[in-house]
Amino acid sequence: KRIVLAYSGGLDTTVIIPWLKENYDCDIVAVCVDVGQEADWKTIKQRALDTGAVSCHVADVKQEYVEDYVWPALKANALYEDKYLLGTATARPLIAKVLVDYARKEKAVAIAHGATGKGNDQVRFDLGIMAFAPDLEIIAPWRTWDIKSREEEIEYLEKRNIPVPMKKSDSYSRDDNLWHMSHEGLELEDPANEPSLKGMLKMGVAPEQAPDEAEYVEIQFEKGIPSAVNGKKMNGVDLIKTLNQIGGTHGVGIVDLVENRVVGMKSRGVYETPGGSILYYAHQELEHLCLDRQTYAFKQTVGQKLGEVIYGGLWFTPLREALSAFVDETQKTVTGTVKLKLYKGAISAAGASSPYSLYNASIASFETGELYNHADAKGFIRLYGLPILVKALMEQGYVKE
Ligand code: ARG
Ligand code: SIN
Repeated sequence: KRIVLAYSGGLDTTVIIPWLKENYDCDIVAVCVDVGQEADWKTIKQRALDTGAVSCHVADVKQEYVEDYVWPALKANALYEDKYLLGTATARPLIAKVLVDYARKEKAVAIAHGATGKGNDQVRFDLGIMAFAPDLEIIAPWRTWDIKSREEEIEYLEKRNIPVPMKKSDSYSRDDNLWHMSHEGLELEDPANEPSLKGMLKMGVAPEQAPDEAEYVEIQFEKGIPSAVNGKKMNGVDLIKTLNQIGGTHGVGIVDLVENRVVGMKSRGVYETPGGSILYYAHQELEHLCLDRQTYAFKQTVGQKLGEVIYGGLWFTPLREALSAFVDETQKTVTGTVKLKLYKGAISAAGASSPYSLYNASIASFETGELYNHADAKGFIRLYGLPILVKALMEQGYVKE
C-alpha cells in the first residue's frame, strides 16, 4: 500500500516519512510541487530517498499556478482583510490537486501533508483533496502525533540516525512561492513588536535600504492579464520574476498584518509580495480608466468576497467559479499600459492609457463641450436630491397640502 506525501524537504516533512512508515506500514511516495519556491530539487529528492521514501517526484506547475490561480486573484484585486495578497492561499489548492493526480497514478490509499492543526493550510489542503478525491484518506500527522515542537522533531530524527535538514529551530515559519513569501513566529507573535525586517526579508530590502533614486516601471495588460514589462513581452512566470526583482530592490510590497485565521484565532504575519503589489496597483489604475462606475463599485464587493473565499480554502467551489466568471466579464476592456514610480517602499501612479479608456477629455474639461450642458445639472440635482428635500420639509414642519 502506498501513501503520497506532500514533501518540501523541510524539517516537518522529513520527520513525517519515518513516522508514516512506522505507523501505517506503507510505502511513501514523496511529491514536491514546484510553485516557484526557492528550492534545490536535486538535493531535496535525494533527501526524500535517504529518509526512506520509495520514490520522489517533482511537479513543475509554475505556469499553471500563475495562469489559473494568481491571475484570477489579480483580476479581482482580491485581498484578505484589506491587506494580504493571498500568496499561500492561492497555491494550496493547486498543490492539493497535484497530490491527487499522483495519488491516482500511484494507486495510493491516502495523502499526507505537514500542515499543523492550528493553521489555514490544513483546511486548504484537506478541502482541495476532498474536492477531487472524496474516497482518499487524509493524514495530517501534526493533528495526531505527540511531537510538540521542532526540538522534539530533531530528537525524533537523531534517535533514528536520520540526517536533520536544518539544525536551528530559531527561524521564522515561512512559506514561499513565485508570488510571495510569508513570515510568522518569533518577535511577530507579540503584535506590539515592530517586525525586524532586516533579518527577515528574503525577496527584497526594507524601504530605508532602498536606493535614493526612484525607478519607473511600465506594465501592459490585455484583458486584465499583464503581458509586458517596460515594453518587453513576457510569459507570466518571467513577468512575475522580473517584477519581484525590481520591486524587491525598492522595498515595495511588504505587508504586516494581524489576520483572522479560519480556525478562529488571530495570528500575525509579514508578507513580501513585491511583484504582486506592483501588479495589483497597476491593474487597479487601469480599471479606474476602463470600468464604468457601477461595474467598478460592484466589482469591489466581488473582489472582497473572493478574497475571503480563497483565504478560506474554498477554491474548488461553485461560488469561487461564479465570482471569477463575473470578474472575467469585467476584464474585456481592461487593456492598456500603466506607468508606476517606485521609491523607498512606495508605489505611485505615473500615468495610464487604454484604447478602451472611458475618460472623455471634452466632457471632463472645464470648457463646455457639446455632450455636457451645465444647465442639465440643475434638474438632475433636484430629482437626485428629492429625498433630502422631502426629509427637510418634514423636519421643519412644512406640510404640503
Ligand atoms: N497566514 C498565511 C495564510 O494563511 C500564510 C501561511 C503560511 N503557511 C506556512 N505553512 N508557513 O495564507
Ligand atoms: C501551519 O500551521 O501549518 C502554517 C500556518 C497556517 O497554515 O496558517
